[in-house]
Amino acid sequence: VSEHPSTEVAVLPTTFEAATAKHITILYATQTGNAGRLAKQYGEQLQSNGFEVNVISMNDFKTNALKKLDHLLVIASTHGEGEPPDNAISFHSFLHGKRAPKLDHVKFAVLSLGDSSYEFFCKTGADFDERLEELGAKRLVDRVDCDLDYDEPAAKWFDSVKLKLQQGAVSGQTIQEAAPTVLESSVLYSRKNPYNAEILEKINLNAAGSNKETIHLELSLENSGITFEPGDSLAIYPTNNESLVNSLITALGFNPEKSVNVEGEEVTLKDALTNLLEITVLSKPVMQKIGEFTLSEEFHALLADREAFKSYTHGRDILDVVGKFAPFSWDEQRFVASLRKIPARQYSISSSLAAYPDEVHITVGAVRYEVDGRERLGVCSTHVADNLEIGDTARVYIQHNPNFKLPSDDKPIIMVGPGTGVAPFRSFIQEREERGAEGRNWLFFGDQHFVTDFLYQTEWQSWLKSGVLTKLDVAFSRDKAEKVYVQHKMQKHASEIFEWLEQGATLYVCGDKDHMAADVQNTLLDIIAEQGNKTEEDAKAYLEELRKQKRYQRDVY
Ligand code: 2AM
Repeated sequence: VSEHPSTEVAVLPTTFEAATAKHITILYATQTGNAGRLAKQYGEQLQSNGFEVNVISMNDFKTNALKKLDHLLVIASTHGEGEPPDNAISFHSFLHGKRAPKLDHVKFAVLSLGDSSYEFFCKTGADFDERLEELGAKRLVDRVDCDLDYDEPAAKWFDSVKLKLQQGAVSGQTIQEAAPTVLESSVLYSRKNPYNAEILEKINLNAAGSNKETIHLELSLENSGITFEPGDSLAIYPTNNESLVNSLITALGFNPEKSVNVEGEEVTLKDALTNLLEITVLSKPVMQKIGEFTLSEEFHALLADREAFKSYTHGRDILDVVGKFAPFSWDEQRFVASLRKIPARQYSISSSLAAYPDEVHITVGAVRYEVDGRERLGVCSTHVADNLEIGDTARVYIQHNPNFKLPSDDKPIIMVGPGTGVAPFRSFIQEREERGAEGRNWLFFGDQHFVTDFLYQTEWQSWLKSGVLTKLDVAFSRDKAEKVYVQHKMQKHASEIFEWLEQGATLYVCGDKDHMAADVQNTLLDIIAEQGNKTEEDAKAYLEELRKQKRYQRDVY
């Protein structure tokens, strides 16, 4: 895979005749769009190689078409703790249920995308892979599980799939080894080729006395040609905290100036640990690699015990491991070879190009906590909060999110975004104001204290005044003895929320996934059941239908 964008697309030998073409269905399960983009790229390439191809979001796939499938490629990302992405929830549950048909007539292959820092790495892809086999389908090639840096393994998987498909299509003929597939051919700036964006403005949105530090950051996109839509995210490459890097090198007893090789690049150890490698997340693959360099029984016991592993690795980093389990038999080079490349962190964009051409704004909550008496810093959020200053540059690219998009201008929207979850809604409202969109807009916002934590307060209030914002409900959780959360405010307005939904509103939720988003969903189900006179099951079906119609969209993390 080329490090540089290229307009070249590898084309296979074209000995093969379209008359023998097979029908290939590519189904994708995508949350932030990566799996969807790969599916479309691969679809186009197979098509240009003479295959008949149908690329479909799992959301839009009619399950009775399973009977007519011939070749099936599944490209699936995994969300959070092993859950399928929103666009795959109903197909995933159908396929795993009793009503799933036999699939003896199907040949399939699965590509999974994931993040190895999560316990259930690539689980959704694995689920599909196992279940398709169980239903009688025949595997074309083995599943490949990709970590965040997915381009190369994904391209290899695709090349082997393509080879298999062509071998079948032209039996008797020999096919040359496929040329590697060039990815992201028309994208100017990307994960592999980020843009250096200048910081134009940096403001702490919380007032003095707050428990929080939320940074509003404005970056320049001038002359970059970069565009985005409300709902998209900005990915930023962080650098590791300098004093953490120094402490780690000291604990390792290594020479910071020693030259090491990181994927073909010769850099100093200090540079590698500052700019290129992840040192703050103890994922399973990293711990397994580290395990090759220690005889510590305690360490190997940890690797073997799922619960102990989880509780030890949570919130800890490589420096903890080095301090606790020494000695290790590595040197500088072997040590860096154990680590994963530092991934960019993604932040929901909080501005609209229509309102701020050539700029992109994000809203970043600084993460700081303590474990074992040492302060821990969220890598990217504190890089933004503590290191980046106006005039500096940050390496960025846009992560498009097809699953978090405004509806047509005339439709009402309900936005639920406590804390930094409010970010995309500032973008939504800016966009709707600029477009003169007629649809009504209702925002639920929450945070700890009214006085210190009402993010973008004056903007919301002036939009309310001008009528761009139709309704605003706020929940400040720590101003009164009793906690008030956004879902309590929703419950209070249950009948009106249901009315808006019945009138075609889209409901958006952004922010904390584990607690807030789950509680908000339960409240929503209660509202639907109560206001629509429905059983629990019918309320679930109603919400599922909203999801299918893209009228229940979530950006949760
Ligand atoms: P708390 O910190 O006082 O518990 C943004 O962080 C806001 O979301 C805060 O007011 C926070 O309240 C609140 N919050 C915490 N847990 C929540 C939950 N389960 N549902 C909704 N809001 C929650």
